[in-house]
Amino acid sequence: MTLERYAELVDDYEAFVEACERPLPLTARVNRVKSSFDEVRESLEGVGFGVERLDWYDDGFRLDVPEDDENGEEAKIGNTLAHYLGWIHVQEEVSMLPPVVLETGASEDGEDTDDRLVLDVCAAPGSKTTQIAQYAACVLANDDNIGRISALRNNTDRLGLTNVAVTSHDGRRLPGFDALGIDAAVVDVPCTSEATVRKNPEYRDGVSQNQRESLVPVQKGILSRTLDVVRDGGRVVYSTCTFAPEENEAVVDHVLRKGKASVLNFDVGLESSPGVTEWQDDEYVSEVEKTRRFYPHQNDTGGFYVALLEA
Ligand SMILES: C[S@@+](CC[C@H](N)C(=O)[O-])C[C@H]1O[C@@H](n2cnc3c(N)ncnc32)[C@H](O)[C@@H]1O
Repeated sequence: MTLERYAELVDDYEAFVEACERPLPLTARVNRVKSSFDEVRESLEGVGFGVERLDWYDDGFRLDVPEDDENGEEAKIGNTLAHYLGWIHVQEEVSMLPPVVLETGASEDGEDTDDRLVLDVCAAPGSKTTQIAQYAACVLANDDNIGRISALRNNTDRLGLTNVAVTSHDGRRLPGFDALGIDAAVVDVPCTSEATVRKNPEYRDGVSQNQRESLVPVQKGILSRTLDVVRDGGRVVYSTCTFAPEENEAVVDHVLRKGKASVLNFDVGLESSPGVTEWQDDEYVSEVEKTRRFYPHQNDTGGFYVALLEA
């Protein structure tokens, strides 16, 4: 099954395919705990990198990599002083969306985001945890894969963060979390990852239906349990890097039908398409239209799906 399965969903299928075949621009984000955009730009431009700030998110920037570094070797962002010192974190542009969407929702309500305890249920290797930690009082970073937790810890250490607590539970269970008074959560679930096709060209051939069918109950279980442990009225961002409605709108539809959440609108200043309400033989509740699909051709990024929910 190829990406052609999504032809009927995409507004401009030709532009979509063309974008999926182009390499992905390299992007990173400033770690404001240790540095600033101006300091990072000076450091990276000093060793030959081009730095262009994202117009929708002040901390994010695109990088133009020089052919060689100052020693005549292949230039790599991971070898720069800015990276070593924890001034930056290399992160896909669309992967920066969930923490930004969480902020958008909260600030519209006039909530003091600096006081919040935020749960990141599927946190490793910590791109979103380390981003959220800049705006929250404390991040509870959970991941059921103990092997990936070391990468999460390495990132929080390199970035100098002291407000991240780490746990390793299955996100469908989260024992004892109900009592913690969690204010908000990010649910960046394991998914088939087809929308990372620009970074992983093997996804041009699509993924197996078996693989998808085994992930969907896990995605539903994790989102459902997270909505139970977040306080009433708290914001929850659900996200994936797949185009598949089964892993996106159908999962949101599942928790809406159980009365666990409502869907909120958001706009971060990037082009996107509304969530779909019909797919194959299934129909979803109309509220899922407020969720957003980010296709590669719309903003020259990877693909992504984001839903902003209120518990
Ligand atoms: C898309 S990745 C998360 C990426 C991460 N949010 C980031 O920004 O760096 C999904 C993560 O879910 C974790 N995971 C898979 N099944 C899980 C479960 N049942 N409970 C909690 N985490 C799970 C995987 O180990 C993986 O690290």
